[in-house]
Amino acid sequence: MSDAKVQVAKKAFEEMAPQINKESILGIGTGSTVNCFIEILKQSNVQFKGAVSSSEASTLLLQEFNVEIFSLNDVNEIQFYIDGADEVDPSHNLIKGGGGAHTREKLVASASNQFICIVDQSKHVECLGDFGVPVEVLIESRSFVSREIVKLGGVPTYRSGVITDQNNHIIDVSKLDLSNPKDMEIQINSIPGVVENGIFAIRKPNKVLTA
Ligand code: A5P
Repeated sequence: MSDAKVQVAKKAFEEMAPQINKESILGIGTGSTVNCFIEILKQSNVQFKGAVSSSEASTLLLQEFNVEIFSLNDVNEIQFYIDGADEVDPSHNLIKGGGGAHTREKLVASASNQFICIVDQSKHVECLGDFGVPVEVLIESRSFVSREIVKLGGVPTYRSGVITDQNNHIIDVSKLDLSNPKDMEIQINSIPGVVENGIFAIRKPNKVLTA
């Protein structure tokens, strides 16, 4: 675990811990920075009711220390959603999905009262886009969606060999004009066969913490 990731995960935990109680449901993201947060949560003695997880990988880590995992369908409120990001711009628009988990990440983030994004300095960019935009698609729609993405100015690359937790494929899209990220988020999601894209401009974090 990199020192910066541990530091920012600690910072988030210290901010959240006084507000967490036995009834709290936490939303847990995916990736190496969130893994540091999960480790800190494990070592703490903070009591909470359980978690809604954004991926099978995070679920396994949480279950290792007996955190009860809830379906989003079974909770009324998620107090905090904590997650990393692949890029953060100055307006706190994000690119996520490097780990292919952005569909459930966006869902749980959108259903949460507060979304806290934890990153190291390397994730901050002036303009989104260098990382590319991950797009989860139904397997059957992969070629069609790729052609539609070319019409939007993007260059699609199939993330070969990757099957998401929802049994779909991922296309990574470079060269998109992301000067209006919200507009592009909506346009990509309007293509039939797209499940979700990794631009977080509609549900931005309430807070970005940086190591
Ligand atoms: C997972 O699909 C992603 O959205 C991650 O949250 C993002 O890639 C950040 O991951 P790291 O914390 O490993 O950099």
